[in-house]
Amino acid sequence: MVTFKRVVQSIAVIVALGSSAFATSNITATKHNLSGTSTGTIKSDAGDNNDEICVYCHTPHAANTAFVGAPLWNKATPSGVFTMYGTTIGGTATDATPNSPSMACLSCHDGVSAINSMVNAPGSGGYVALGANVKFGATAAGSAFVMPAGVTAIGTDLRNDHPVSITYDPSKAGLKATATALTGWAGATTIANLLRNSKVECGSCHDPHEATNGTFLRVANTGSALCIGCHAK
Ligand code: HEC
Ligand code: HEC
Ligand code: HEC
Ligand code: HEC
Repeated sequence: MVTFKRVVQSIAVIVALGSSAFATSNITATKHNLSGTSTGTIKSDAGDNNDEICVYCHTPHAANTAFVGAPLWNKATPSGVFTMYGTTIGGTATDATPNSPSMACLSCHDGVSAINSMVNAPGSGGYVALGANVKFGATAAGSAFVMPAGVTAIGTDLRNDHPVSITYDPSKAGLKATATALTGWAGATTIANLLRNSKVECGSCHDPHEATNGTFLRVANTGSALCIGCHAK
C-alpha cells in the first residue's frame, strides 16, 4: 500500500511539474500484466516461470523479426486476413494490411490469435516451437486462449475502428502540423513522436505499458484532449 501511495504521489508531482514525459510507466498494475501474479482476470496460471511480465510481448532472444517497429516481438504473426478501414473522406487510403506496430496489438486483440502463445516461452531452456501455449485459467494445458468477445476483441474487421496504418497528412481532416507540441502525453512531446514511419498506428494513441490515463491512452481523453491533440476541430 505504501509503495502504491508513493507511486501515486510521484505521478502527482510529475503532473504538478507539468512534465510531458511520464517516467513512471508501471505495467505491473495494468491489464497488460498477464503473469500468474497479476491482479487482472486474464492471466497465466502460476508456475513454469509464468510470473514474468514482458515475456508475453517481448523476448531478449529469438524474437520474431517480421515485426519491424514492434521491438523484440515475442509472438507469431497473425494468420488471419484483416479488412482495413479503407479510404477516408480526405481521400487517404489505409495500407493493405496492418503494419507491425498495429499488428503487434492485433496479435492478441484480433479475437483469433492465441494470447498465451509465445515464440520464446518464459524460463531458461524452455525453448519451444512457435504456437506453444502456456496455461491460462480454465483453458486446457496447451490449448489457445483467445480474447473473449466484447469491446477488447477488436477483431479482424477494422472498418469500424479509427484508421490505422494510414499516413499522417496535415492537409487532411484538420490535422495539425507534425511539429506541434504536446503537453502531458506519455512518451511524446510532439505529434511527430506519435507517428510510426510517418503513420498513425495503435501506439499513436495508446501506450501499452501505461494505464494512468485509463484504457492505455497516451493522454486522458477528458474533453476529447486526445483527439484534439492531432485534429484542430
Ligand atoms: C501487452 C504487450 C506488451 C507488454 C506486456 C510489454 N510491452 Fe513493451 N511494447 C509493446 C508494444 C506493442 C510496443 C511498441 C509500441 C509503440 O508502437 O509505441 C512496445 C515497445 C516497447 C519499448 C520501446 C518503446 C518504448 O516505449 O520505449 C520498450 C523499451 C519496451 N516495450 C519494453 C518493455 C518492457 C521492459 C516490458 C516489461 C516490463 C514490456 N515492454 C512489456 C508491448 C508490450
Ligand atoms: C499479449 C497480448 C496482448 C497484446 C500484444 C496487447 N494486448 Fe491489450 N489487452 C490484452 C488483454 C488480455 C487485455 C484485457 C482484456 C479484457 O479484460 O477484456 C487487454 C486490454 C487492453 C485494453 C483495455 C484496457 C482497459 O483498461 O480496459 C486496451 C486499450 C488495450 N489492451 C490496447 C492494446 C494496444 C493498443 C496494444 C498494442 C500497442 C495491445 N493492447 C497489445 C492483451 C494484449
Ligand atoms: C486515434 C486514436 C486511437 C487509435 C489509433 C487506436 N485507439 Fe484504441 N482507443 C482509443 C480511445 C480514445 C479509446 C477509449 C474509448 C472509450 O473509452 O470509449 C480506445 C479504446 C480501446 C480499447 C478498449 C475497448 C474500447 O473500445 O473502449 C481497445 C482494446 C483498443 N482501444 C485497442 C486498440 C487497437 C488494437 C488499436 C489499433 C488497431 C487502437 N486501439 C487504435 C483511441 C485509439
Ligand atoms: C495521432 C493523431 C490522431 C489522433 C490522436 C486522432 N486522429 Fe483521427 N485521424 C488521424 C489521421 C491521420 C486521419 C486520416 C486523415 C486523412 O488522411 O483523411 C484521421 C481521420 C479521422 C477521421 C475521418 C475518417 C474519414 O473517413 O474521413 C475522424 C472522424 C477522426 N479521425 C476522428 C478522431 C477522433 C474522434 C479521435 C479521438 C478519439 C481522433 N481522430 C484522434 C489522426 C489522428
